[in-house]
Amino acid sequence: MFSFVVVAVLLAVTPSLAVWPIPQKYTTGSTALRLSPSFSIKLSGINPAPQDLLAAISRTSDHLRKDKLQALVPDRGASSANAVRAAKALDTLTVSLTSNAKVRSIAEEAVDDIESRVEGYELTIPANGSGATLKANSSLGLLRGLTTFTQLWYNLDETTYTLEAPFTIVDAPAYPYRGLMLDTARN
Ligand SMILES: *[C@@H]1O[C@H](CO)[C@@H](O)[C@H](O)[C@H]1NC(C)=O
Ligand SMILES: *[C@@H]1O[C@H](CO)[C@@H](O)[C@H](O)[C@H]1NC(C)=O
Repeated sequence: MFSFVVVAVLLAVTPSLAVWPIPQKYTTGSTALRLSPSFSIKLSGINPAPQDLLAAISRTSDHLRKDKLQALVPDRGASSANAVRAAKALDTLTVSLTSNAKVRSIAEEAVDDIESRVEGYELTIPANGSGATLKANSSLGLLRGLTTFTQLWYNLDETTYTLEAPFTIVDAPAYPYRGLMLDTARN
């Protein structure tokens, strides 16, 4: 009984955005949008592009193409088929660093002193099919934003779609430290 109540409360308070952890600030809409079959992620003005950022982009594209995650609803999204078929198609996600950011690799930024590590990003996905944008002050922030981007989509009949466009997401870690390990064997 208790666990039933807990689950019911969790379902009731879970925001519609199925992204974890929940971004610091976000807005969603209620328009269907799908990824165009030629959807691509483009870098803009990042020269020279760090190899590990290019690899992250290629992993993200791959994941979006191969992931067949269906919506967690009883009909797996089938009742949205018409909306998905009629949805505008998103062609590009443009990834850029803000104008005064220095280009560094993700690996380098990931070992910056924890208090000064920069991981924030801004992700904007219009509902009308014009290009989505991801901006950050660091390559590490872009990596975080790409990860969020992959979590926004479901699959139905080979179409990758969302029913919640447009999105604006502004995110950064709430705390510099996100974990603590106590080694009980040696302490
Ligand atoms: C689509 O929406 C975006 C953001 O709301 C806007 O900036 C853009 O001009 C729109 N594009 C078209 C073609 O309507
Ligand atoms: C980049 O840094 C500036 C100055 O700290 C901040 O105002 C801005 O929100 C940051 N941009 C992003 C995309 O995180």
